[in-house]
Amino acid sequence: MKLFDNYGRLIKDLRLSVTPRCNLHCLYCHPLDWEMTEPPGTISVEDVRNFLGAMRLLGLESVRFTGGEPLVRKELPEMIAAARELGIEDIAITTNGMLFKRKAKELKDAGLKRMNLSMDSVTPEVFRTMTRGGDVRRVWEAIETAFELGLGPVKLNAVMIRGMNEGEVIPLALLSLDKPLHVRFLEYMHLDNSNPELYRQRFIAGSETKTVIERHFGPLEKLEDDPSAPARLYRIPGAVGTVGFINPVMEPFCSNCSRLRLTSDKKLRPCLLTDLEMDIAWAFEAPNPLEALVDAILIATDRKPAFGNTLPTLRERVMVGIGG
Ligand code: 5AD
Repeated sequence: MKLFDNYGRLIKDLRLSVTPRCNLHCLYCHPLDWEMTEPPGTISVEDVRNFLGAMRLLGLESVRFTGGEPLVRKELPEMIAAARELGIEDIAITTNGMLFKRKAKELKDAGLKRMNLSMDSVTPEVFRTMTRGGDVRRVWEAIETAFELGLGPVKLNAVMIRGMNEGEVIPLALLSLDKPLHVRFLEYMHLDNSNPELYRQRFIAGSETKTVIERHFGPLEKLEDDPSAPARLYRIPGAVGTVGFINPVMEPFCSNCSRLRLTSDKKLRPCLLTDLEMDIAWAFEAPNPLEALVDAILIATDRKPAFGNTLPTLRERVMVGIGG
């Protein structure tokens, strides 16, 4: 069975947020007044199993566990194991890496295949400012641990923000030279309810970042893009890893969107950049949850909009509560 939306897009990827809590407060993701507690009704291991089971019946190929910070949920390994037991091959997490070293082996044994790490800066002070207190050394440890355990490819996400980390472009790009790291530069999306004027000042187009890199290293080699990932991929000549540009604002990739999102409070979200959400808590409680969840997923897919809205606007939910 394959699931298509009304615009002919194949829906095969899921972003599953397991908690709204995060142990960092990155300024582009997490406004300081955001609620940090896990409300009653947060998704359980059993709920994850049922939801993935329903998605699997509809052709799900890959799942990415996210948050908040997914590693703050102690049940994450069980959730990953549930995905593996359902035969899902591509199981990934998006993490800030702060807790990764300690839990990596358990996650790998449960079935984790690969990971995306948030790393906006290599300079400790810049990293600390952008994450409001994070320690970049823990990200290095997470990268090393991932390599040791064979959890690859390791992708690094850097959200580019003017006045914060534009000086980090070259140091970040350099990381791709001698390690199989995929350094991805992300355009800052207005998903944090920041002041629109401030947002515009801080926004950096991916093309500008690419120009900075080419001025330093010379022309980048274009690589074939992974059809299921939004990054435009390049290689610095001679590099082991790659650099990628994710430009949701200047070059929206909605027409290739293959995703649904489930938030940790059981709202099914057909689009990252549209407030539209369906509360599907009822389906988890239904006498036959699999059947009810399949129905809910079909309805949400039917409502998937053609395009999201990247313009500054007051959103009902900010990034930390949605999941990346
Ligand atoms: N704009 C772009 N990317 C963001 N992320 C979080 N907030 C934003 C934003 N406002 C990305 C980070 C993180 C992933 C979960 O989402 O790179 O790694």
